[in-house]
Amino acid sequence: MATILRPSPESVAILVVHLSEGGIAAIPTETVYGLAADATNPDAIAKIFVAKNRPQNNPLILHCHSIEQVAEYTIGETERWYDLARQFWPGPLTLILKKNPAIPDVVTAGRDTVAVRIPASQLSREVIRKLGRPIAAPSANPSGYVSPTTAEHVEESLGDRVPYILDGGACERGIESTIISLIDPEKPMILRPGPINQSELTSALKRQVITKHVAGDESQAQDAPGLFSAHYQPTIPVILCDDPLKLKQIDKSSSALLLISKKSETVMPDVVEYLTESGNANEAATNLYSALRRLDKSGVKAIYAEVPPADQEWQGVADRLNRASSNL
Ligand code: TXA
Ligand code: MG
Repeated sequence: MATILRPSPESVAILVVHLSEGGIAAIPTETVYGLAADATNPDAIAKIFVAKNRPQNNPLILHCHSIEQVAEYTIGETERWYDLARQFWPGPLTLILKKNPAIPDVVTAGRDTVAVRIPASQLSREVIRKLGRPIAAPSANPSGYVSPTTAEHVEESLGDRVPYILDGGACERGIESTIISLIDPEKPMILRPGPINQSELTSALKRQVITKHVAGDESQAQDAPGLFSAHYQPTIPVILCDDPLKLKQIDKSSSALLLISKKSETVMPDVVEYLTESGNANEAATNLYSALRRLDKSGVKAIYAEVPPADQEWQGVADRLNRASSNL
């Protein structure tokens, strides 16, 4: 059983000692909980891959506490990413930059690039600052399963493999950070949609940003090897329905509905979840993984999910639902 640490200076101190001795621990961020280790310690990093059952070729994200620390562990002119950093950090944006050789190859799966961000959780930034080194952290879920947005989620699926979980409460954003590659300065490219959308990035960079479309496209694996078509999956099938009629026809005793918002005209099954009261995409993202986990535990045999609106701000939620429902 993992020890759950409540936010306090003592908890931070316990974690810093534990991580500096090569241990792993779950930490809160504004997106999802991360499974953390000292990014400069290859043996500690290896434990993350074992605990998550993560393929070795899937690189990790480096979490730093300051822009100076990001500059220290990457190479290339800071000007290239400074505008994004100033506007969105600390926050749910991950940059792909050239890596400094001080980062062990296991973190980046042998690549010469590194994914890096400054998380919004003050508590986790304090751990990183006191550790004096960046933390490498993928989402704290078994590889392929729904990501965790509370300490309890981490406990449920990795509790026997992680000694400590730092409880920072429920994650405000609820889905993973947007990943943007700045490796080709002429072609900034979103590799994973998330809380920060394409038009926000385009105006911050004053340059057109494009989104690499990935669902069902395994060639994407070359740019972001972890972006498998099937990901974020409950143990029961998720079926995406773009036709509201189909949602009305499901077998209501053995299936659950995952709806974007309340629908008065549909006869509801016993098990139903709504992602937003107000039709707001951020609210839907915040609730998505909790809803999927509750439905997974509810005893039904399948989850029928409503397709989100096509607007840009829904890209992150749509991406996660596409992968949750993919059988590729
Ligand atoms: O919000 C988040 O980003 C969370 C929290 C914990 O910070 N982390 C997270 O990590 O989502 P993870 O490991 O679940 O997803 C990281 C993604 C993977 O798809 C991985 O392949 C990609 O980032 N990635 C990491 N390094 C990369 C690199 N150098 N080039 C391209 N993709 C990379
Ligand atoms: Mg993940």
